[in-house]
Amino acid sequence: MIEVRKLCKSFNGKKVLNKIDLEIRENEIFTILGPSGHGKTVLIKLLVRLLEPDSGSISYDGQDISSLSKREFNEMYKKIAFIFQSNALFDYLDVKDNLSLYKKLHTKLSEKMIMDEVLEAIHFVGLGQDILNKFPEELSEGMKKRVAIARAVIKLPSYIFYDEPTLGLDQGNIVKVIELIRSLKKDVSLTSIVVTHNIHLMFEISDRVALLKDREIVFVGDKDNISNVMLQNLYEKGEDYEL
Ligand SMILES: Nc1ncnc2c1ncn2[C@@H]1O[C@H](COP(=O)(O)OP(=O)(O)OP(=O)(O)O)[C@@H](O)[C@H]1O
Ligand SMILES: [Mg+2]
Repeated sequence: MIEVRKLCKSFNGKKVLNKIDLEIRENEIFTILGPSGHGKTVLIKLLVRLLEPDSGSISYDGQDISSLSKREFNEMYKKIAFIFQSNALFDYLDVKDNLSLYKKLHTKLSEKMIMDEVLEAIHFVGLGQDILNKFPEELSEGMKKRVAIARAVIKLPSYIFYDEPTLGLDQGNIVKVIELIRSLKKDVSLTSIVVTHNIHLMFEISDRVALLKDREIVFVGDKDNISNVMLQNLYEKGEDYEL
């Protein structure tokens, strides 16, 4: 379980997040929905400690992450995978090396064992072996997203964070990414945290939802309890929240 208490973050004196409280339960798909520029990416970066909060706390399974030593944090970080909106693949590595790097750096597995895991991950996301020697710039956006998911899965995390996982993808890849997010919950019991401004995606995949607006969480709960009025209040008239 992830517990967030009174989390605050400002940049240059401008408050971006104010007193955020959240509880994310084991094995759920938890979506943070909010309009563009309202702090969704900042919030998940705080959760995985890519950013430091000004105040407030974040704990994983009862452990406050700010109290962990670097070594303890690195240990905990093995349980976390983060899929950036931009995918953040290493441009100078081919797909095989993008996928195997983590295992080469952090395990003592043989080349053969690592290669078996790479193949398993690439098949899991519905890609073929022919992609392994390609570089990110040779891939479509949908393929990049799938490779980013394969790279996350190979870590065998307990928590997986997705920043706008379907943004900019065609319909076929959107369907595939949704299927992958669901199967990681169902088949390997991952806890998934998704941030998006896409209402359709939120309704499609979530178990529970937090609505983020003007620096604050304005609703947390079951998606079935979200009313049209709440959604209308979340977005300004004419704002693009679909794609
Ligand atoms: N490193 C930073 N330095 C200064 N300001 C920042 C920084 N990161 C984010 N911000 C500001 O914080 C606010 C929230 O940004 P954030 O990227 O979290 O929004 P978002 O909800 O993810 O938007 P989008 O849907 O467009 O991705 C914005 O006003 C942004 O300019
Ligand atoms: Mg963002």
